[in-house]
Amino acid sequence: MNIEFHDSLDAAKSRLVARVVEQDKLPDDLPTTIAQGAEASRFKGKTGQVFEGFHEADGKVVRLALVGAGKKKDAGRMAALEKAGAALTAKYLTSGEEALAIDFASSGLDAEEAAAVLLGARLRSWRWDTYRTKMRDEQKRTLKTVHAVGAAEGTDAAWEDAQAVAKGVEFTRELVAEPANVIYPQSFVERCQERFKGTGVEIQVLDEDEMRTLGMGALLGVGQGSRRDSKLLVIKWMGGKASEKPTLFVGKGVTFDTGGISLKPPGGMEDMKWDMGGAGAVAGAMLALAGRKAKANIVGVCGLVENMPDGNAQRPGDIVTSMSGQTIEVINTDAEGRLVLCDALTWVQKEFSPKTVVDLATLTGAMMIALGHEHGGVFSNDDKLADNLLAAGKASGDKLWRFPLAPEYDKLIDSPIADMKNVGPRWAGSITAAQYLQRFIEDGVNWAHCDIAGMVWADKPGATWGKGATGYGARLIDRFVRDSVEG
Ligand code: BES
Ligand code: MN
Ligand code: ZN
Repeated sequence: MNIEFHDSLDAAKSRLVARVVEQDKLPDDLPTTIAQGAEASRFKGKTGQVFEGFHEADGKVVRLALVGAGKKKDAGRMAALEKAGAALTAKYLTSGEEALAIDFASSGLDAEEAAAVLLGARLRSWRWDTYRTKMRDEQKRTLKTVHAVGAAEGTDAAWEDAQAVAKGVEFTRELVAEPANVIYPQSFVERCQERFKGTGVEIQVLDEDEMRTLGMGALLGVGQGSRRDSKLLVIKWMGGKASEKPTLFVGKGVTFDTGGISLKPPGGMEDMKWDMGGAGAVAGAMLALAGRKAKANIVGVCGLVENMPDGNAQRPGDIVTSMSGQTIEVINTDAEGRLVLCDALTWVQKEFSPKTVVDLATLTGAMMIALGHEHGGVFSNDDKLADNLLAAGKASGDKLWRFPLAPEYDKLIDSPIADMKNVGPRWAGSITAAQYLQRFIEDGVNWAHCDIAGMVWADKPGATWGKGATGYGARLIDRFVRDSVEG
């Protein structure tokens, strides 16, 4: 969906017009039918509430929608404005109308605020229709353009920036939504190579032979039952000073997780196509950062593997040697994400000597039990880093909640035969997974692990997404980079 800017409503030539209104303060220049209609239908302008009425202007019937953005003073103002924009495109996406004009002229919104409305509108209009060849007419999307009319000066520039973020989120959603017969390690890499053309990003790919030479026995062990070769994808955006050490983001990219020989039960296994949501978030964030030319050196690394049962698959009890030299007893082949991440984490620390490393992963079902679909969990060895991520979560809407790390939990993954085992007891499953990862973090490195298992996929529409891939993580990273790395 495209956004176009106009000075006046005439120029937009739309039969469908929307106005963003503040709660309990209906504008006094509304046509009578609209003002009375809104009153009669108890429209108050609460965040995301929509009223639609009709009135006549210049001999033509105009469809006028009012959308609420809550109260000006409310905390979360930007999120409310996004929701307002999202409510409009959710309502009109398949309405038969091709264009929607949002009349900002007397809205009182500044450029950033208007851009937030447009961002919400754009994000909520995203759908992945590639595989739907038989849609009924009323299912087909019709809305193609949102005309922003009379918006404050500078809204177009603010939109340029927001649009880069939208493209990043959409790329994350695309990667997550694609099924595992389409997106596997090699095709994930190719999709990125294609999408990053002309963005100024440098891409590097390690194949299995190179990873074997580096000693990545943990990552390779996971992919060993798959017909698809594992890959390590590196996406570099060097927009900062040459002297600045890069900040690293590492994503779990298990393009399908059957559980391996510790096979998962069939019910819901199709969800495991989105077990690459961490990698998807990293790739989408890199696209956003490059798109808005972030003044920072950022490297995104995706550990891409498919976890399959097979005659060559690793067995429970196998012992693998990680790139760090530490040995791991693979008690459960379904605890594969940490096996992938540990080698990726070791590699990025050796390769880039970073000060800060953040990983994102759909790592444990236990995280969903703890937090549901409202927050991702964050674990960190550094309070400031944790605080910055929590703040970025709040500001972007990709919310996080902090969990503890402690030696008492770490003990739970000691193995009698190797340096560690890849699972602990049933309890505190998300924490022992984080403790496992921490064993691969070198002294002096600020590290955070985000367990986003509950966040990358939604069974029902949310604030700025429909059912399915949410795009979680891309905005979190983008916001963290803006507020804590750049400037
Ligand atoms: N990818 C799963 C975690 C997951 C489950 C993410 C459901 C999203 C939804 C991960 O690889 C996994 O299988 N974890 C196991 C770990 C266990 C074997 C210690 C889990 O959570 O059950
Ligand atoms: Mn698993
Ligand atoms: Zn997994």
